[in-house]
Amino acid sequence: MSRQRVLSGVQPTGILHIGNYLGALRNWRGMVDDYDTFFCVVDMHAITVPEAVDPARLREAIRSVAAIYIAAGIDPDKATIFVQSDVPAHAELAWILTCMAPMGWLKRMTQFKVKGGDNEGVGTGLLTYPVLQAADILLYDADLVPVGADQKQHIELTRDLAERFNHRFGDVFHLPKPMIPKQGARIMGLDDPEAKMSKSTAVERPGHAIGLLDTPKQVKKKINRAKTDSGTCTIYEDASPGIRNLLGMFAAFTGEDPAEIGKRYDGRGYGYLKADLIAAAEAELAPLRARYEELRGDESVLDAILERGAERANAQANVVLARAKQAMGLGR
Ligand code: AMP
Ligand code: TRP
Repeated sequence: MSRQRVLSGVQPTGILHIGNYLGALRNWRGMVDDYDTFFCVVDMHAITVPEAVDPARLREAIRSVAAIYIAAGIDPDKATIFVQSDVPAHAELAWILTCMAPMGWLKRMTQFKVKGGDNEGVGTGLLTYPVLQAADILLYDADLVPVGADQKQHIELTRDLAERFNHRFGDVFHLPKPMIPKQGARIMGLDDPEAKMSKSTAVERPGHAIGLLDTPKQVKKKINRAKTDSGTCTIYEDASPGIRNLLGMFAAFTGEDPAEIGKRYDGRGYGYLKADLIAAAEAELAPLRARYEELRGDESVLDAILERGAERANAQANVVLARAKQAMGLGR
């Protein structure tokens, strides 16, 4: 039997953080041996906030995210790592799907509402963002999409769009499923454990997130300053949101149960928990940092990986795009 297909992506915006790592990248790494994997730097999603686009910064961010994929341990000889805009089929299928996507479905997306959907001046790309995401996934006949919990709604929309298309034009698209990790799917902000750790907030507020490229000193400082409360209770169910977030992070790093970790530290003061969490984070981030520096030291290596990735991705995506166009009667 052929291996199942996997596709996922991260936007080259803001600062990549341990939420991205624990919710997505680390799980991708674990899939490359058993699945046929495609990991994309979704640069065309990054331009959905056009006023935020700075060409030099975008160019650098695309390369940096690609290098972080590899530095996180995703083997480029096993996975196809590529840049979305290197594969024109994404934009083309996105247009086709846009014509099938009811406006109401898109207006109901949580991310659209949160990012300012009620503002008439906002770019239309913010509304059609999940349609482009659906194209990303459907072009690869993906079976599984490994993502953090916040993306579940977008994968459901992808399935709905695929079913709608298939219903009208025949069995063209394969229906994907989300794959959301048990631990680490929703890491909260260190400075505000009520809000999801976010790449853009990480730029505005240094204490918000642990960046994947932070120095050991920064990691230590940020965890030590993470919001807790004044007690010593680390019993998971009774702990404050800040402590629960630290336990969740710890659990995601070590593979233990957060409640078990909590019991171990209860009544001892948060300093012990934080010190061990710093060590656990450092154990994963130190090799990532070193590999990243090495990769960025010789850009030709990354160029070759992305070039090869673009070739493989185009070859696959064009097959599915042709299938969709043929089914609809588009073209000569
Ligand atoms: P984004 O930062 O929105 O580009 O997300 C890239 C990937 O990281 C997606 O799979 C997200 O679901 C995941 N992700 C983003 N923020 C978090 C978070 N705070 N906790 C866990 N996963 C996250
Ligand atoms: N919307 C995703 C996010 O913000 C990024 C993304 C774009 C993606 N295309 C995708 C994720 C395809 C998985 C599959 O995190």
